[in-house]
Amino acid sequence: MREFQLGNSKKDIWEMIPERKIKKVRLGDKEVAVLRLKDTIYAFEPFCPHRGASLLTAFTNSKEEIICPLHQYRFDLKTGQVKSGYCREMEVYPCSLGENGLTITIPQ
Ligand code: FES
Repeated sequence: MREFQLGNSKKDIWEMIPERKIKKVRLGDKEVAVLRLKDTIYAFEPFCPHRGASLLTAFTNSKEEIICPLHQYRFDLKTGQVKSGYCREMEVYPCSLGENGLTITIPQ
């Protein structure tokens, strides 16, 4: 398990990750998609577990789900659980937002 720190304050994170805009960041040798909905940050794999479509242009709904733009499979942003469709779960990575910025934990 490895922890990565982004920014040095909450303000840095608000500027770095505008609300509802999915950004891709490189953490070590892994690319991770990062999304902010209000004050909550989610980190997850940037490609859909179904057929590999980019999730950077995915949609979200009011149930904290991300919706793949290609076949509209839905995944829980907190757990990665598949909510509609048939494929493996989406990888999600624990995030912790504090006064010193954002910490994302990546399993090794
Ligand atoms: S590639 Fe994402 S739902 Fe098919």
